Amino acid sequence: MSLALFTAILIRSLRRIFMEDLSFYVPEDLSLEEKDELSNIRRRKKELLDDIERLKFEIAEVMTEIEQLTCVGESKTTQRNKQIAMGRKKFNMDPKKGIQFLLENDLLQQTPEDIAQFLYKGEGLNKTVIGDYLGERDEFNIKVLQAFVELHEFADLNLVQALRQFLWSFRLPGEAQKIDRMMEAFASRYCQCNPGVFQSTDTCYVLSFAIIMLNTSLHNPNVRDKPAVERFISMNRGINDGGDLPEELLRNLYESIKSEPFKIPEDDGNDLTHTFFNPDREGWLLKLGGRVKTWKRRWFILTDNCLYYFEYTTVSSFCYFWVVKDIVSRVYCTPGLPNCFELYNPNHKGQVIKACKTEADGRVVEGNHVVYRISAPTPEEKEEWIKSIK
Ligand SMILES: *[C@@H]1O[C@H](CO)[C@@H](O)[C@H](O)[C@H]1NC(C)=O
Ligand SMILES: *[C@@H]1O[C@H](CO)[C@@H](O)[C@H](O)[C@H]1NC(C)=O
Repeated sequence: MSLALFTAILIRSLRRIFMEDLSFYVPEDLSLEEKDELSNIRRRKKELLDDIERLKFEIAEVMTEIEQLTCVGESKTTQRNKQIAMGRKKFNMDPKKGIQFLLENDLLQQTPEDIAQFLYKGEGLNKTVIGDYLGERDEFNIKVLQAFVELHEFADLNLVQALRQFLWSFRLPGEAQKIDRMMEAFASRYCQCNPGVFQSTDTCYVLSFAIIMLNTSLHNPNVRDKPAVERFISMNRGINDGGDLPEELLRNLYESIKSEPFKIPEDDGNDLTHTFFNPDREGWLLKLGGRVKTWKRRWFILTDNCLYYFEYTTVSSFCYFWVVKDIVSRVYCTPGLPNCFELYNPNHKGQVIKACKTEADGRVVEGNHVVYRISAPTPEEKEEWIKSIK
């Protein structure tokens, strides 16, 4: 019940009680004292009724005030959203000025963590500009870079998978010194998430560079001499603090790069880039397999009312991506796995979700999922995905 309605009912019932119990009729057989008492009661009744009227008026005033406040609150949110959009535009033109604008308008806090979070989410931000900002030599920017890599979760990923994720979150700048700082930050985060894989951060750092070079050698058409896996292995002899890395590990990394080059965001100039630039939401999620019931990490992109997911953050590879249409999401609980939600067909519950997939040879096949079960890295991300899909 609303406050106003409640008060109205209260006032009406109080009135009725007074009217009925205290009529103006004065019985003849009352003693003088009783008559006095009665007129006292009548006076008090009048006072009370006046009080009620005053209260009613005050309540009406307060209600109007509350309504006005709500309106102001709402226009404040739109105002805020407009300022955030403005801040993003400014950032894309000049990152320092953009950040300054967001700080001045209390839309960001001046902590490396808060700014890193803003860049990591990257909504509406140009990834080239994110890369430039993170590569700056400024002491504060270095702290932001540090906080930014700490937002990446690399546990249980091999080095190539981790690099794919990292190199998709911004565009690596061209300057050697900037690249160096970023790769160093990457390597130390990787080692922190995967203790015991490498003898030292340096090993990880050197190998990361070797992998980026390998990517170019294998996939740049201008490089004629394509190294074989044996050459890659022998090139990396002794990098593990004088020792060798397991051949198995190097072979896996080599094969992974060979089958799928690193992609650079906003660099592939095909039409999908346009679709995927500025998506409603994108990020890593775990998805329960359709046939094989295991949880697989996939890169999800929500844009134009379609949900896409990929094996890697490589939008331009037409192979192996799924488009899922007309879905709603709701919370779903899986024992042992946190932050789950599921997607289903809102019009025909229990029926197959409209979906299709492109095969490596370009054939398009239809999906046969009735539900998609998904697990997000954090409760907040789960809520945001559910909200965005709605
Ligand atoms: C991103 O920023 C770079 C450098 O300022 C610019 O060359 C590029 O066109 C921008 N990309 C988009 C999609 O606006
Ligand atoms: C990997 O190689 C491809 C093809 O030459 C290139 O477009 C891409 O920029 C490379 N990625 C990195 C991180 O060097």
